[in-house]
Amino acid sequence: MQTEPQPPKGAPDEQAQSHVLDMIGTAAKSLQEPVEKTDCKIETCALNFYYGDFQALHNVSLHIPARRITAIIGASGSGKSTYLRVLNRMTDRTPHTRVEGEIKLNGQNIFDQGINTIELRKRVGMVFQKPNPFPKSIYDNVAHGPRVHGVKDRQTLTELVEKCLTQAALWDEVKDILKTPATALSAGQQQRLCIARAFAVEPEVILMDEPCSALDPISTRKIEELMLELRQTYTIVIVTHSLQQAARASDFTAVFMMNDQRGGELVEFGTTRQVFTQPQHHQTKEYVAGDFG
Ligand SMILES: Nc1ncnc2c1ncn2[C@@H]1O[C@H](COP(=O)(O)OP(=O)(O)O)[C@@H](O)[C@H]1O
Ligand SMILES: [Mg+2]
Repeated sequence: MQTEPQPPKGAPDEQAQSHVLDMIGTAAKSLQEPVEKTDCKIETCALNFYYGDFQALHNVSLHIPARRITAIIGASGSGKSTYLRVLNRMTDRTPHTRVEGEIKLNGQNIFDQGINTIELRKRVGMVFQKPNPFPKSIYDNVAHGPRVHGVKDRQTLTELVEKCLTQAALWDEVKDILKTPATALSAGQQQRLCIARAFAVEPEVILMDEPCSALDPISTRKIEELMLELRQTYTIVIVTHSLQQAARASDFTAVFMMNDQRGGELVEFGTTRQVFTQPQHHQTKEYVAGDFG
Protein backbone atom coordinates (compact mmCIF):
# COMPACT_ATOMS: atom_id res chain seq x y z
CA MET A 1 0.00 0.00 0.00
CA GLN A 2 1.35 3.39 -0.95
CA THR A 3 1.41 6.13 1.62
CA GLU A 4 1.41 9.83 0.98
CA PRO A 5 4.72 11.48 1.86
CA GLN A 6 4.26 13.07 5.27
CA PRO A 7 5.26 16.70 5.74
CA PRO A 8 7.92 17.26 8.40
CA LYS A 9 6.45 17.58 11.86
CA GLY A 10 5.43 21.10 12.76
CA ALA A 11 5.37 22.31 9.17
CA PRO A 12 1.59 22.80 8.86
CA ASP A 13 1.62 24.99 11.93
CA GLU A 14 4.47 27.06 10.54
CA GLN A 15 2.66 27.37 7.22
CA ALA A 16 -0.50 28.42 9.01
CA GLN A 17 1.45 30.97 11.02
CA SER A 18 3.08 32.59 8.02
CA HIS A 19 -0.28 32.54 6.26
CA VAL A 20 -1.86 34.40 9.16
CA LEU A 21 0.95 36.94 9.08
CA ASP A 22 0.47 37.38 5.32
CA MET A 23 -3.24 37.89 5.77
CA ILE A 24 -2.74 40.41 8.53
CA GLY A 25 -0.50 42.28 6.11
CA THR A 26 0.50 45.64 7.45
CA ALA A 27 -0.38 44.54 10.95
CA ALA A 28 2.36 41.92 10.84
CA LYS A 29 4.88 44.67 11.47
CA SER A 30 3.28 45.82 14.69
CA LEU A 31 2.70 42.20 15.70
CA GLN A 32 6.42 41.61 15.56
CA GLU A 33 7.25 44.42 17.92
CA PRO A 34 7.61 43.06 21.42
CA VAL A 35 4.95 44.41 23.74
CA GLU A 36 6.18 45.75 27.01
CA LYS A 37 4.42 44.39 30.05
CA THR A 38 2.82 47.05 32.21
CA ASP A 39 1.10 46.96 35.56
CA CYS A 40 -2.37 45.48 35.74
CA LYS A 41 -5.22 47.98 35.45
CA ILE A 42 -8.18 45.64 35.85
CA GLU A 43 -7.88 42.33 37.62
CA THR A 44 -10.80 39.96 37.11
CA CYS A 45 -10.82 36.98 39.49
CA ALA A 46 -13.12 33.96 39.13
CA LEU A 47 -15.96 35.99 37.66
CA ASN A 48 -19.33 34.31 37.19
CA PHE A 49 -22.26 36.19 35.73
CA TYR A 50 -25.91 35.14 35.57
CA TYR A 51 -28.96 36.41 33.69
CA GLY A 52 -31.62 34.81 35.86
CA ASP A 53 -30.78 31.11 35.90
CA PHE A 54 -28.57 31.31 32.85
CA GLN A 55 -24.87 31.55 33.55
CA ALA A 56 -23.37 33.72 30.80
CA LEU A 57 -19.80 33.89 32.18
CA HIS A 58 -17.95 31.01 33.83
CA ASN A 59 -14.97 31.55 36.07
CA VAL A 60 -13.31 34.32 34.06
CA SER A 61 -9.92 35.35 35.43
CA LEU A 62 -8.18 37.98 33.34
CA HIS A 63 -5.64 40.72 33.98
CA ILE A 64 -5.98 43.74 31.74
CA PRO A 65 -2.69 45.62 31.33
CA ALA A 66 -2.59 49.38 31.91
CA ARG A 67 -2.11 51.75 28.98
CA ARG A 68 -2.40 49.00 26.40
CA ILE A 69 -5.11 47.85 24.02
CA THR A 70 -6.68 44.51 24.87
CA ALA A 71 -8.91 42.96 22.23
CA ILE A 72 -11.62 40.48 23.13
CA ILE A 73 -12.47 38.10 20.31
CA GLY A 74 -14.44 34.87 20.11
CA ALA A 75 -17.67 33.13 19.27
CA SER A 76 -20.94 35.02 19.17
CA GLY A 77 -22.81 34.55 22.46
CA SER A 78 -19.65 33.74 24.41
CA GLY A 79 -20.22 36.65 26.79
CA LYS A 80 -17.86 39.28 25.35
CA SER A 81 -20.36 42.13 25.63
CA THR A 82 -21.51 40.90 29.02
CA TYR A 83 -17.93 40.88 30.30
CA LEU A 84 -17.36 44.41 29.00
CA ARG A 85 -20.56 45.66 30.62
CA VAL A 86 -19.68 44.11 33.99
CA LEU A 87 -16.41 46.05 33.98
CA ASN A 88 -18.22 49.32 34.72
CA ARG A 89 -21.26 47.68 36.30
CA MET A 90 -23.52 48.66 33.45
CA THR A 91 -25.07 45.22 34.00
CA ASP A 92 -26.50 46.54 37.30
CA ARG A 93 -29.17 48.11 35.12
CA THR A 94 -30.32 44.73 33.76
CA PRO A 95 -32.84 43.19 36.14
CA HIS A 96 -32.44 39.65 37.52
CA THR A 97 -28.69 39.55 37.02
CA ARG A 98 -26.15 38.32 39.52
CA VAL A 99 -22.39 38.42 39.71
CA GLU A 100 -19.85 36.37 41.68
CA GLY A 101 -16.13 36.92 41.96
CA GLU A 102 -14.04 40.07 41.94
CA ILE A 103 -13.08 42.83 39.59
CA LYS A 104 -10.39 45.13 40.90
CA LEU A 105 -9.73 48.50 39.34
CA ASN A 106 -6.34 49.74 40.52
CA GLY A 107 -6.60 47.13 43.26
CA GLN A 108 -10.06 48.09 44.53
CA ASN A 109 -12.99 45.74 44.09
CA ILE A 110 -15.67 47.53 42.04
CA PHE A 111 -18.37 45.53 43.86
CA ASP A 112 -17.34 46.85 47.27
CA GLN A 113 -20.04 48.56 49.26
CA GLY A 114 -19.66 52.30 48.96
CA ILE A 115 -18.53 52.23 45.33
CA ASN A 116 -20.41 54.97 43.53
CA THR A 117 -21.36 53.59 40.12
CA ILE A 118 -21.61 57.06 38.57
CA GLU A 119 -18.05 57.74 39.64
CA LEU A 120 -17.03 54.26 38.41
CA ARG A 121 -18.52 54.91 34.96
CA LYS A 122 -16.67 58.22 34.83
CA ARG A 123 -13.42 56.31 35.36
CA VAL A 124 -14.41 53.44 33.07
CA GLY A 125 -16.15 54.89 30.01
CA MET A 126 -17.89 53.08 27.21
CA VAL A 127 -18.33 53.39 23.45
CA PHE A 128 -21.09 51.27 21.94
CA GLN A 129 -21.49 49.39 18.69
CA LYS A 130 -23.95 51.83 17.21
CA PRO A 131 -22.99 55.49 17.49
CA ASN A 132 -25.44 56.97 20.00
CA PRO A 133 -24.95 60.75 20.14
CA PHE A 134 -27.41 62.70 22.27
CA PRO A 135 -30.00 64.70 20.28
CA LYS A 136 -27.99 67.84 20.97
CA SER A 137 -25.35 69.91 19.22
CA ILE A 138 -21.85 68.56 18.59
CA TYR A 139 -20.55 70.94 21.28
CA ASP A 140 -23.15 69.93 23.84
CA ASN A 141 -22.51 66.22 23.29
CA VAL A 142 -18.90 66.65 24.38
CA ALA A 143 -19.67 69.23 27.09
CA HIS A 144 -22.46 67.13 28.63
CA GLY A 145 -20.31 64.87 30.84
CA PRO A 146 -18.09 67.64 32.23
CA ARG A 147 -21.21 69.75 32.96
CA VAL A 148 -22.82 66.85 34.84
CA HIS A 149 -19.61 66.52 36.83
CA GLY A 150 -19.67 70.19 37.76
CA VAL A 151 -17.64 72.09 35.15
CA LYS A 152 -19.51 75.37 34.63
CA ASP A 153 -16.96 77.83 33.29
CA ARG A 154 -17.62 78.48 29.58
CA GLN A 155 -13.99 79.01 28.65
CA THR A 156 -12.94 75.77 30.40
CA LEU A 157 -15.73 73.84 28.67
CA THR A 158 -14.85 75.27 25.27
CA GLU A 159 -11.20 74.34 25.69
CA LEU A 160 -12.17 70.85 26.79
CA VAL A 161 -14.48 70.39 23.81
CA GLU A 162 -11.68 71.38 21.44
CA LYS A 163 -9.17 69.11 23.17
CA CYS A 164 -11.45 66.05 23.10
CA LEU A 165 -12.54 66.57 19.51
CA THR A 166 -8.90 66.94 18.52
CA GLN A 167 -8.01 63.74 20.39
CA ALA A 168 -10.80 61.96 18.58
CA ALA A 169 -9.45 63.20 15.21
CA LEU A 170 -12.69 65.08 14.53
CA TRP A 171 -11.88 68.72 15.31
CA ASP A 172 -10.87 69.78 11.79
CA GLU A 173 -14.09 68.36 10.37
CA VAL A 174 -16.45 70.01 12.86
CA LYS A 175 -14.78 73.12 14.24
CA ASP A 176 -16.99 75.41 12.16
CA ILE A 177 -20.24 73.56 12.84
CA LEU A 178 -20.13 73.00 16.61
CA LYS A 179 -23.74 74.18 17.03
CA THR A 180 -25.03 71.72 14.42
CA PRO A 181 -27.01 68.71 15.71
CA ALA A 182 -24.74 65.71 16.15
CA THR A 183 -27.23 63.58 14.23
CA ALA A 184 -26.32 65.48 11.05
CA LEU A 185 -22.86 63.90 11.05
CA SER A 186 -21.95 60.71 9.17
CA ALA A 187 -21.88 57.44 11.12
CA GLY A 188 -18.09 57.48 11.24
CA GLN A 189 -18.06 61.06 12.51
CA GLN A 190 -20.77 60.26 15.06
CA GLN A 191 -18.70 57.38 16.42
CA ARG A 192 -15.64 59.64 16.75
CA LEU A 193 -17.90 62.15 18.51
CA CYS A 194 -18.97 59.41 20.95
CA ILE A 195 -15.30 58.66 21.55
CA ALA A 196 -14.66 62.38 22.19
CA ARG A 197 -17.63 62.40 24.57
CA ALA A 198 -16.22 59.40 26.42
CA PHE A 199 -12.87 61.19 26.85
CA ALA A 200 -14.42 64.41 28.04
CA VAL A 201 -14.82 63.13 31.60
CA GLU A 202 -11.16 62.07 31.71
CA PRO A 203 -11.63 58.34 32.18
CA GLU A 204 -8.85 55.88 32.95
CA VAL A 205 -10.31 53.04 30.92
CA ILE A 206 -12.33 53.05 27.71
CA LEU A 207 -14.45 50.03 26.85
CA MET A 208 -15.46 49.65 23.21
CA ASP A 209 -18.01 47.10 22.06
CA GLU A 210 -17.53 46.50 18.33
CA PRO A 211 -17.16 50.26 17.78
CA CYS A 212 -16.48 49.96 14.06
CA SER A 213 -19.09 47.43 13.01
CA ALA A 214 -21.36 50.14 11.58
CA LEU A 215 -18.53 52.03 9.89
CA ASP A 216 -16.90 52.09 6.48
CA PRO A 217 -13.23 51.03 6.13
CA ILE A 218 -11.89 54.61 6.12
CA SER A 219 -13.68 55.55 9.35
CA THR A 220 -12.63 52.21 10.83
CA ARG A 221 -9.01 52.92 10.01
CA LYS A 222 -9.29 56.38 11.61
CA ILE A 223 -10.63 54.89 14.81
CA GLU A 224 -7.92 52.24 14.90
CA GLU A 225 -5.22 54.89 14.43
CA LEU A 226 -6.84 56.88 17.18
CA MET A 227 -6.79 53.91 19.55
CA LEU A 228 -3.12 53.30 18.88
CA GLU A 229 -2.39 56.92 19.77
CA LEU A 230 -4.58 56.98 22.85
CA ARG A 231 -3.12 53.86 24.42
CA GLN A 232 -0.18 56.00 25.60
CA THR A 233 -2.56 57.45 28.16
CA TYR A 234 -5.57 55.19 28.47
CA THR A 235 -6.32 51.53 28.98
CA ILE A 236 -8.51 50.36 26.13
CA VAL A 237 -10.56 47.16 25.97
CA ILE A 238 -12.20 46.48 22.62
CA VAL A 239 -14.58 43.71 21.65
CA THR A 240 -14.28 43.03 17.95
CA HIS A 241 -15.60 40.38 15.59
CA SER A 242 -12.89 41.34 13.12
CA LEU A 243 -9.72 39.34 13.65
CA GLN A 244 -7.95 41.69 11.28
CA GLN A 245 -8.90 44.58 13.55
CA ALA A 246 -7.67 42.75 16.65
CA ALA A 247 -4.41 41.98 14.85
CA ARG A 248 -3.96 45.54 13.58
CA ALA A 249 -4.99 47.46 16.64
CA SER A 250 -4.32 45.55 19.86
CA ASP A 251 -1.40 44.62 22.06
CA PHE A 252 -3.07 41.77 23.91
CA THR A 253 -5.89 39.44 22.95
CA ALA A 254 -8.37 37.51 25.07
CA VAL A 255 -10.38 34.72 23.45
CA PHE A 256 -13.85 33.86 24.74
CA MET A 257 -15.65 30.69 23.71
CA MET A 258 -18.85 28.88 24.61
CA ASN A 259 -18.65 25.85 26.92
CA ASP A 260 -20.98 22.80 26.81
CA GLN A 261 -23.57 24.63 28.92
CA ARG A 262 -23.59 27.39 26.27
CA GLY A 263 -22.04 29.78 28.76
CA GLY A 264 -19.01 31.91 28.00
CA GLU A 265 -15.50 31.31 29.25
CA LEU A 266 -12.05 32.69 28.65
CA VAL A 267 -9.97 30.12 26.80
CA GLU A 268 -6.83 32.07 26.05
CA PHE A 269 -5.05 35.32 26.79
CA GLY A 270 -1.68 36.50 25.55
CA THR A 271 0.06 39.08 23.43
CA THR A 272 -1.82 39.50 20.18
CA ARG A 273 1.17 38.14 18.29
CA GLN A 274 1.25 35.02 20.40
CA VAL A 275 -2.48 34.39 20.21
CA PHE A 276 -2.49 34.76 16.43
CA THR A 277 0.70 32.92 15.57
CA GLN A 278 1.06 30.38 18.38
CA PRO A 279 -2.40 29.81 19.78
CA GLN A 280 -2.28 27.43 22.74
CA HIS A 281 -5.91 26.33 22.73
CA HIS A 282 -7.41 24.23 19.93
CA GLN A 283 -10.53 26.45 19.84
CA THR A 284 -8.37 29.54 19.28
CA LYS A 285 -6.49 27.72 16.50
CA GLU A 286 -9.74 26.86 14.76
CA TYR A 287 -11.18 30.32 15.25
CA VAL A 288 -8.13 32.10 13.88
CA ALA A 289 -7.74 29.62 11.02
CA GLY A 290 -11.45 29.94 10.19
CA ASP A 291 -11.09 33.61 9.54
CA PHE A 292 -7.66 33.74 8.00
CA GLY A 293 -7.46 30.26 6.44
N1 LIG B 1 -30.18 41.01 28.86
C1 LIG B 1 -30.02 39.70 28.72
N2 LIG B 1 -30.89 38.81 29.27
C2 LIG B 1 -30.73 37.48 29.13
N3 LIG B 1 -29.70 36.91 28.45
C3 LIG B 1 -28.80 37.73 27.88
C4 LIG B 1 -28.91 39.16 27.97
N4 LIG B 1 -27.89 39.70 27.30
C5 LIG B 1 -27.16 38.67 26.81
N5 LIG B 1 -27.71 37.49 27.16
C6 LIG B 1 -27.22 36.14 26.83
O1 LIG B 1 -25.90 36.00 27.37
C7 LIG B 1 -25.06 35.32 26.45
C8 LIG B 1 -23.85 36.19 26.15
O2 LIG B 1 -24.28 37.31 25.41
P1 LIG B 1 -23.27 38.46 24.96
O3 LIG B 1 -22.51 38.91 26.15
O4 LIG B 1 -24.06 39.48 24.24
O5 LIG B 1 -22.30 37.65 23.97
P2 LIG B 1 -21.31 38.19 22.81
O6 LIG B 1 -21.12 39.64 22.99
O7 LIG B 1 -20.06 37.37 22.98
O8 LIG B 1 -21.98 37.83 21.50
C9 LIG B 1 -25.90 34.97 25.24
O9 LIG B 1 -26.38 33.65 25.39
C10 LIG B 1 -27.04 35.98 25.32
O10 LIG B 1 -28.21 35.45 24.74
MG1 LIG C 1 -21.54 41.32 21.78
